[in-house]
Amino acid sequence: MDAWGDEVSVGEIVRLDENDAEQVHELLKITWRDTYTGILPDSVIVNAETVWHSAETLRRQMRNRDILFAGYKEVGKLLGMARVAMVDGDSARVFQLYVLPGSQRRGIGTKLMNHSRETFPAAKRFVLDVSKGNEKGIAFCRRYGFRFGRESTIKLGDQETQNLEGVLEVSVPGH
Ligand SMILES: CC(C)(COP(=O)(O)OP(=O)(O)OC[C@H]1O[C@@H](n2cnc3c(N)ncnc32)[C@H](O)[C@@H]1OP(=O)(O)O)[C@@H](O)C(=O)NCCC(=O)NCCS
Repeated sequence: MDAWGDEVSVGEIVRLDENDAEQVHELLKITWRDTYTGILPDSVIVNAETVWHSAETLRRQMRNRDILFAGYKEVGKLLGMARVAMVDGDSARVFQLYVLPGSQRRGIGTKLMNHSRETFPAAKRFVLDVSKGNEKGIAFCRRYGFRFGRESTIKLGDQETQNLEGVLEVSVPGH
């Protein structure tokens, strides 16, 4: 709050780089546990922590400049992240969109999605997968404008999980 009682936003969207890999790893570890306990088998959550979201894997992904690796930070602390890339001439895929549990419902997910849309102005649609049962994720995506249609079964290691595909159709300026 400032002297007049108005809320002052000290947050900023930044491009995450290899120096942020440890913070991203921690954020994903905490947020995955919070989101997927009871939805995904524990073995999948542990595999995510130790392999898919290891600092080393993240660093490798961050070196690819075609991938948007955006973070939302407040006074240096990472509160949310998104990893998004064009997957064909028309579509961008949101591979990850995560906000720390204690910082959710403050508009950070919306800011990260808005930033992704600004970064890929040519994208006619954004697509993502949400685990069935991830009610927070589904509620956020519906509210943002994603429509759910197709269901898919994804093999994660030796486990299978059910996903919903969300599609956000974007009207491209000038078209
Ligand atoms: C989905 C997620 C990124 C949303 O981030 P967030 O910063 O909390 O989202 P916002 O504050 O911008 O929410 C915008 C709107 O979405 C809806 N929404 C968000 N979280 C919700 C929840 N838990 N329950 C119901 N509606 C919700 C609300 O309408 C909200 O507006 P409101 O708070 O004014 O009512 C966050 O919940 C998260 O990290 N979840 C785990 C990972 C995940 O599901 N990722 C998305 C799929 S890849």
